Amino acid sequence: MTDPRVRHPLPPARWPTEEEAARSRLFSPVRLGRSLVAEQRTWVPAMVPWRATAEGFVTPEVLDWYGRFARGRPGTLVVEATGIRDVPSGPLLRVGHDRFLPGLRELVARVRAESGGRTRLLLQVIHFLAIRRRPAPEAYFRRYLETTAAHRERLAVATGEERWRGALEAELRERLLAGPRDLVERVLSPRELEALDFGHRERVGDEHLPHVRDLPRVLPGLFADAAARARAAGFDGVELHYAHAYTMASFLSPLNRRADGYGGTREERVRLPLEVLAAVRARAGEGWCVGVRFLGDEVIEGGFRADEAAWFGARFAEAGADYLSVSKGGKFEDARQPSVGEAAYPYTGPSGQECMPTTLSDARGPFGRNVPLAAAVRAAVRAAGLETPVVVSGGIGTFEEAEGILARGEADVVAAARQSLADPDWFLKVRRGRGAEVRRCTYTNYCEGLDQRHRQVTCKLWDRAFAPGDPSVPLAADGKRRLVAPEWEGRPPA
Ligand SMILES: Cc1cc2nc3c(=O)[nH]c(=O)nc-3n(C[C@H](O)[C@H](O)[C@H](O)COP(=O)(O)O)c2cc1C
Ligand code: SF4
Repeated sequence: MTDPRVRHPLPPARWPTEEEAARSRLFSPVRLGRSLVAEQRTWVPAMVPWRATAEGFVTPEVLDWYGRFARGRPGTLVVEATGIRDVPSGPLLRVGHDRFLPGLRELVARVRAESGGRTRLLLQVIHFLAIRRRPAPEAYFRRYLETTAAHRERLAVATGEERWRGALEAELRERLLAGPRDLVERVLSPRELEALDFGHRERVGDEHLPHVRDLPRVLPGLFADAAARARAAGFDGVELHYAHAYTMASFLSPLNRRADGYGGTREERVRLPLEVLAAVRARAGEGWCVGVRFLGDEVIEGGFRADEAAWFGARFAEAGADYLSVSKGGKFEDARQPSVGEAAYPYTGPSGQECMPTTLSDARGPFGRNVPLAAAVRAAVRAAGLETPVVVSGGIGTFEEAEGILARGEADVVAAARQSLADPDWFLKVRRGRGAEVRRCTYTNYCEGLDQRHRQVTCKLWDRAFAPGDPSVPLAADGKRRLVAPEWEGRPPA
């Protein structure tokens, strides 16, 4: 995003009558592969609400969160990024073992019941590598840094003091801790400096680590197992998370220079994502939806841009993806430095701004900013002779914007994350000709700030006028915010 940044007003909204909505493209069905039809082209993309247990299980709060979206009856609802491994990952949902099945089944049942069976339900499945919190310098130099002869050598050269070549480990550590910074920069490697300043982060190129080297061997099976569980739990399909800062997106990136045939050229970088897709398809069968979410532009130095994204999109479509969902940015490479004790968050830098754009934006503004990327992917897919639907998201919160995108053939489905968080009934309100009652997202990212601190996500527009202790209004851990959107007063009968 290029400066100068200006505050953009929300686009004016003209809402359709019920008859106009009934005739619209937005409220017409869309086929998601051979097996699944969504009754509308409205879509709630994945959003992590930080409501699972620390062990990754579905909680009553998770059920309430998805149940609330389902009451707005979007065409499709995608459940948050859900971990495919059986390893602790904080309060994020997990699907890496059969013990998670009962909770996921309950989630499916709740969405079916609340939407009257109208909303299609997908599970986003994710693999991520380890990222550590930014350490205090004392902890880093005294404990985490793995000292080597190279450090002693560089310290001797940097200070001109021969004695560092044979120095005791404790002495070396204390010397580096004492600084100054320019000395530390001359002694540590770039990765070690990153670990000091941001916290250690594994990369897909760390082939010296056995578990990273083995990713191409392990991931197809892990994703396939996760998909099989999602199917057993009753989901309509899975969304393979190939976007943002996580493992599969990192394989696609030109920054992936693995030397084992899974990094380097675009053909090598797309190889593992295609092998995962094939394994998931083989396990899940033809009659079940398997979609891919990936980036239309990484928006980082050395990352891929729209042309390569379009090429990836055509390959995923040829390989049988049932839909393609296009996002943008959200990378670690340009993330802001976290405070000591915090982990880097991939939505804080310029690429993060592109992922969840706010009204403080460049001249182009935040609204529908990703549409050209989705259009480029769609054009490449159509040029390959395929009809795979393309889902677009990013600052789309009015009927006219959504309808215009569909009418111009820029995408086939319109996703709205934050607008659906602000008002989960907004699709229903528009469909019923009551768009004037939509609570419009202000795109100022209060919710994203909560996500960043791993706090229960809520919207700043939700009514806070509730009686304390009212059991019908579950509250966030801080006791000040309601955990689900208020009900639509005057909601018509289903
Ligand atoms: C609180 C929050 C959590 C999110 N979690 C995910 C996620 O789990 N997976 C994902 O692909 N995108 C995630 N996103 C990104 C959204 O799906 C969406 O791409 C982004 O917010 C832009 O769309 P919007 O302008 O309609 O909000 C998240 C966004 C928010 C605000
Ligand atoms: S908190 Fe702000 S940006 Fe997030 S959904 Fe609510 S109004 Fe939109």
